[in-house]
Amino acid sequence: MVFIFGAQKKFGITLLISAALFVIVGIIKVFPSASHQGYAPEQPIPFSHKRHVAEQKIPCLYCHSEAEKSRHAGVPALNVCMNCHSVVKVDSPYIQKLKKAFSEGKPIEWVRVHELPDHVYFSHKRHLAKGVACETCHGNVQAMVQIEQKEAMTMGWCMECHRGQTTPQYVLKNIYPKQKAPHGPVAPVSCNTCHN
Ligand code: HEC
Ligand code: HEC
Ligand code: HEC
Ligand code: HEC
Ligand code: HEC
Repeated sequence: MVFIFGAQKKFGITLLISAALFVIVGIIKVFPSASHQGYAPEQPIPFSHKRHVAEQKIPCLYCHSEAEKSRHAGVPALNVCMNCHSVVKVDSPYIQKLKKAFSEGKPIEWVRVHELPDHVYFSHKRHLAKGVACETCHGNVQAMVQIEQKEAMTMGWCMECHRGQTTPQYVLKNIYPKQKAPHGPVAPVSCNTCHN
């Protein structure tokens, strides 16, 4: 009996720990950290920014042309790739996959890397209009073989730049062209700026 009781107690404790873990994991799942810093998922086709931007000198906006015009930078449609790849590197199995998808009218299912929660409002257009460079928020993309999220992109990260605390000098200069040592807030920090 004692032996059985002991075993049951052990089992009971294990059960309790499992339940506690289950609850903790549950809480983390329900309130996930918004930061995906360091996230660099594998893509369906190994598209390299290093190869296209650094080596082929293709400007960011050639492919992400929406960034200047709208909230989203967007990912280019396949016809943009086919401008070159209807003739460039056609022997590559990846380019053949690209061509096949294009001729069937199917998109490539790129894995989304940067993504804010739905309750946050963000606009590329607004930041580009004030001269904030892609690299300030996305890191040195032209050196990336595989895209990676470099910055935390938490509320604190947004706020610190808006308040003028972490704002790069070149952005401060755009906003305070008349100051010798530019400083000060660069954008609003009231809640309804980013949440509505
Ligand atoms: C030849 C086209 C092309 C050029 C030029 C290009 N990109 Fe991209 N970009 C893509 C494609 C395709 C993807 C989606 C696949 C991937 O994530 O690698 C992408 C993805 C991204 C992402 C991640 C999107 C996400 O899901 O969060 C960022 C950030 C990005 N590009 C920034 C840049 C920047 C900054 C430049 C210039 C330095 C640039 N890109 C130049 C085609 C391009
Ligand atoms: C302005 C021309 C241009 C555009 C637009 C372009 N590429 Fe490329 N791409 C190249 C060149 C040049 C190479 C390098 C070929 C080499 O290394 O010989 C290349 C290489 C590649 C490779 C590597 C192929 C291999 O097997 O080595 C992939 C994959 C690729 N591109 C995908 C894409 C995708 C996806 C898009 C559209 C989002 C795109 N490219 C848009 C010019 C372009
Ligand atoms: C002020 C910071 C900031 C700047 C500057 C910026 N981005 Fe972004 N980018 C973000 C954030 C934040 C997201 C996630 C947006 C979301 O989930 O709504 C994002 C998302 C993206 C995506 C994923 C698709 C999309 O539209 O959401 C791409 C591609 C991208 N950026 C490319 C670029 C390029 C190219 C530039 C420069 C022309 C640029 N970004 C400049 C912060 C920035
Ligand atoms: C590197 C600095 C920097 C970072 C990081 C940054 N912003 Fe901004 N933000 C600016 C500047 C500069 C403006 C332009 C203000 C203007 O138009 O007068 C701006 C404007 C905005 C506006 C428009 C404000 C208005 O006047 O209505 C929104 C919304 C916004 N940012 C959201 C975000 C969010 C969300 C993030 C984080 C995901 C973020 N920003 C990160 C610098 C930054
Ligand atoms: C410059 C943009 C910006 C401003 C201004 C801003 N927020 Fe946020 N907020 C964000 C971003 C981005 C996130 C998502 C990332 C995160 O959770 O850190 C967020 C997330 C949140 C969350 C969810 C937190 C969580 O853990 O999921 C709450 C609550 C919130 N904000 C409240 C506020 C309040 C209250 C204010 C005003 C004092 C405010 N925000 C001002 C950008 C902003």
